[in-house]
Amino acid sequence: MSGARAVTTNQPDIYDKLEEVVRKYASTEYLRPIADHTRMAFAEAEKFVEGFYKGSGSEVILDSGCGTGESTLNIALANPGIPVIGIDKSVARLTKAGSAPQNAFLVRAELLDFWRLVLEKVKAGQWRIPYHALYYPNPWPKQSEATRRFHLHPIFPTLLQLGDVIELRTNWEIYAREFAEAARIATPDCSISCEAFEPEHPITAFERKYKEARQQLWRVTINHV
Ligand SMILES: C[S@@+](CC[C@H](N)C(=O)[O-])C[C@H]1O[C@@H](n2cnc3c(N)ncnc32)[C@H](O)[C@@H]1O
Repeated sequence: MSGARAVTTNQPDIYDKLEEVVRKYASTEYLRPIADHTRMAFAEAEKFVEGFYKGSGSEVILDSGCGTGESTLNIALANPGIPVIGIDKSVARLTKAGSAPQNAFLVRAELLDFWRLVLEKVKAGQWRIPYHALYYPNPWPKQSEATRRFHLHPIFPTLLQLGDVIELRTNWEIYAREFAEAARIATPDCSISCEAFEPEHPITAFERKYKEARQQLWRVTINHV
């Protein structure tokens, strides 16, 4: 893992067209067709949640871009009554996962598709997401790659609807400030905080690397409740 390296970027401050991009996507729908393999992965996650609750329960925690799944296991241990789904597209990372508590489920899927399927469940009143972890997403630090960042992508309005509380963690201050600003523009009624923090006990593989390298970490919390 090259995670201990600090982010290097040619971008001096938050993306200059941030407001324009966020407003454009706030009023459009992301229509890329959902891949069949993601539908199948989602069906497995649905089956896991149904099996966990045996028909009575709707709360589901998401750990998006969970990597090796370490955070999924930690969140599941801290919330034993709620199924926690860790999602990552990298099979290489997921296969490094350790033994899981019975409320944790790891699934290989593309988030841009998986999130839209989750939103259908939320809108149908079948799932409620009390907490959504987005820990150390790929930062895409080159200015030319900025629109690959989740908050500058057409998926952002979907992501913002997935979680009473959404928590983003990153080792790049600009990413944190952009994410918070994009959320303020798109959801002005939410309570949003952006702060430097130091985890006492790292709960993801990347978090541990960054802590060992004494990097400053940043956290954005979006609270809908
Ligand atoms: C920097 S790693 C962080 C992993 C983990 N959260 C941690 O802190 O150790 C980012 C992870 O996000 C996953 N990822 C990035 N974009 C994704 C996408 N569009 N769909 C699914 N997974 C994605 C990558 O495969 C990678 O495992």
